[in-house]
Amino acid sequence: MQQVDVVVIGAGAAGLMCAAQAGYRGRKVAVVDMGKKPGRKILISGGGRCNFTNENASPANYLCSNPHFVKSCLSRYTQQDFIDLVDRHGLQYHHKTLGQLFCDNSAQDIVDILLTECEWAGVSIHLRQEVSSISALPEGGYQVQTSTLTLQCESVVVASGGLTMPKLGATPIGYKIAEQFGLKVLPTTAALVPFTLHDHDKARFDGLSGVSVDCLVTSESGVQFRENILFTHRGLSGPAILQISSFWKSGEYVSINLLPDLNVAEQLHQWRNEQGQKSLKNLLSTILPKRFIEALIEDKSIPDKNANQLSHTEIDQLAQTLTEWKIKPNGTEGYRTAEVTLGGVDTDELSSKTFEAKKQKGLYFIGEVTDVTGWLGGYNFQYAWSCGWACGQVV
Ligand code: FDA
Repeated sequence: MQQVDVVVIGAGAAGLMCAAQAGYRGRKVAVVDMGKKPGRKILISGGGRCNFTNENASPANYLCSNPHFVKSCLSRYTQQDFIDLVDRHGLQYHHKTLGQLFCDNSAQDIVDILLTECEWAGVSIHLRQEVSSISALPEGGYQVQTSTLTLQCESVVVASGGLTMPKLGATPIGYKIAEQFGLKVLPTTAALVPFTLHDHDKARFDGLSGVSVDCLVTSESGVQFRENILFTHRGLSGPAILQISSFWKSGEYVSINLLPDLNVAEQLHQWRNEQGQKSLKNLLSTILPKRFIEALIEDKSIPDKNANQLSHTEIDQLAQTLTEWKIKPNGTEGYRTAEVTLGGVDTDELSSKTFEAKKQKGLYFIGEVTDVTGWLGGYNFQYAWSCGWACGQVV
């Protein structure tokens, strides 16, 4: 049996940040993780280059049943604070798009920074230790049981992540611990995840795998994202689809403006007047991928005509098809490929300043296990750094 001040469950982004901060305050901290390496999700993130924060991160970029919950931690430990930290470690990084910052070399650089911080702060990290149970001790504090360790401590920080990528060791332990202590857990679902299509749509778009289009995608609730969509052999992906998936509910449509920068009706009229002998297929293929236009002609979404054969009504209809192209996904690819888990430990149960459970002294929940989900683009890691830092100040 080992006695420490703080046990952190999960050596991921939130857990390592919290552990280092608590360690710097002189707390004796043990991090336990079932994986054979720390920070496994960091390592695979951002295509191996980790989109570690976003220059524009603000509370508006997060989904949570209480939209005010993230305000405190995001303002106390900002993206600039994390950028300052990686600068102090000499990280080489670059700005990609929409405020997203990526490592130049490898996501391993971010893990190394966190591990160096933990080492400097005297944190001990125990790998290959799956937490099986925790219990509150009658004299106060907790006992945490892992595969081969029994740890007693004053505070437990649950930073065990969500349910995505089960191959990387995602477990529901965090939700179970919350329920064990009577805390509400909101239903979870996969988010930032590709859509699968119904068979008839799959057949329509067969052969388009790899085609990518810059679009404005709108959910039924009116949320919009302007980024690329990508056809895959399973359905639809790409950043705009991943973003909108967090706002999509089963049975709903998404509406896609395929030409957000163009007055499409005006363009069609101009083609009719000036290039009337040309086929719509050839004209539209100058502004959208040809294979995609061919698929839309094949399923009669676009008339197989020359521009001068279009009536005014057909121009209006075609403009609508191209700017409000409606797709009803069959579902999502689920936790297997999702980047994050929507839902989780209800933030009403937690202090937004410390992340301590309001009705269970000494028990804290941080990171993806909580009901906070960021947009795609480095926002999820920024939340992990911000809440990990905030919790590390008090635990
Ligand atoms: P995280 O999942 O990182 O860590 C939880 C840890 O707990 C894991 O190490 C796990 O092994 C451990 N654990 C679980 N159960 C346990 C148990 N019973 N016992 C012991 N240990 C246990 N975000 C972003 O901002 N930018 C990006 O580029 C990306 N890219 C990206 C790509 C892919 C493919 C995925 C799946 C996700 C992303 N994300 C992302 C999201 C990001 O990875 C995620 O939000 C954070 O990793 C969450 O950090 P946490 O520390 O909360 O959990």
